[in-house]
Amino acid sequence: MRIILVGYGIVGKGVTTILARRYMEKAASYGFNPKVVAIADVDGAVINDRGFSPEKLEEIKQKGYPISADGDFGHKGMSALEVIENVEAEVVVEVTPVNIKNAEPALSHITKAFKTGKHVVTTNKGPLALAMPALTELAEHNNVFLRFSGTVGGGTPMLEFAKRCLSGDKILRVQGILNGTTNYILSEMGQSSISFQEALSNAQKLGYAEREPSMDIDGFDTACKVVILSNWIMGKKITLKDVDIIGIRGVTLEMLKDAVKRNSTIKLIGTVDDNEVSVKPLEIPWANPLCVSGVLNAVTFQTEYAADQTLIGRGAGGIETANAVLRDLLDIRHKLASKLLS
Ligand SMILES: NC(=O)c1ccc[n+]([C@@H]2O[C@H](COP(=O)([O-])OP(=O)(O)OC[C@H]3O[C@@H](n4cnc5c(N)ncnc54)[C@H](OP(=O)(O)O)[C@@H]3O)[C@@H](O)[C@H]2O)c1
Repeated sequence: MRIILVGYGIVGKGVTTILARRYMEKAASYGFNPKVVAIADVDGAVINDRGFSPEKLEEIKQKGYPISADGDFGHKGMSALEVIENVEAEVVVEVTPVNIKNAEPALSHITKAFKTGKHVVTTNKGPLALAMPALTELAEHNNVFLRFSGTVGGGTPMLEFAKRCLSGDKILRVQGILNGTTNYILSEMGQSSISFQEALSNAQKLGYAEREPSMDIDGFDTACKVVILSNWIMGKKITLKDVDIIGIRGVTLEMLKDAVKRNSTIKLIGTVDDNEVSVKPLEIPWANPLCVSGVLNAVTFQTEYAADQTLIGRGAGGIETANAVLRDLLDIRHKLASKLLS
């Protein structure tokens, strides 16, 4: 499987690390033979039609930015779109920064990949939040796969759990803490009796929150994940504009103290069911398995037959999310193999 990697930041570097480390093992156990044939970053690209060796991938990573300066394989100024258009590969792994205004540059990368017959694995929520129904249709039209398990839950397989383990059952409702930053802030406020501003500034010092934290604290990150869950698990056809969103700026220490009197706390909760697609702070009893603290994520799938199933895990992290990319690549490999057999 020839792979073009677009975006070479935390997740992109994690992908090359994991592919290099697990290459032999996966090749032996799954007949999976991944070859990174190109990496595109803002400045240019490195291309090797025969595939980079694990040692060369490691060397490119160690040399640091810009990758296009590589003396043997560098192409300075070559854009990701040119790479996707001109390099022969089966899969594009799209891991550029999220953008919920117009989903670029990822949206163009993904559509270009589809139009040139390439499958896509992405961890970028932007294009899915703004255009998931259209992208799914475009992938089907071009007879290619779109996979995105790293977009919800980081390395915790929330989407696969619901799709595979609960198949045959009916999922009636999905509800969860889908953003580690807001969970850390609310947990800190409650446990250390500090204000929202203090907890936010602690989160920023620890690197859990961005300098510009709106995406997390105003609920947009959770809302993007709610869109993905709604479409993928609940069969809706919605985008970000269909989600009712309230973030956590309005949650005060007094509200948290008041919740304690009822053996509860307040969490930022994403909900999807027949009547509701929302993100808002909700009072959750301590005894509820969703009530996890720190940067953890947790999601409960309420099902018709298997009752409530809750999955808890770290919702982000470069290497965890890169592992989700590997999972998606293996899934595409299996799908292609079964297509050949049928
Ligand atoms: N990190 C996590 O834990 C995590 C977890 C789940 C999902 N995600 C998602 O995964 C994606 C990647 O995350 P990350 O943490 O790896 O981000 P990152 O460290 O900021 O890396 C993004 C990379 O994409 C490059 N890039 C920007 N514009 C580009 C373009 N037009 N063409 C090619 N490359 C371009 C950036 O280059 P410059 O740096 O030079 O601009 C950077 O190397 C994001 O959408 C993020 O939301 C991340």
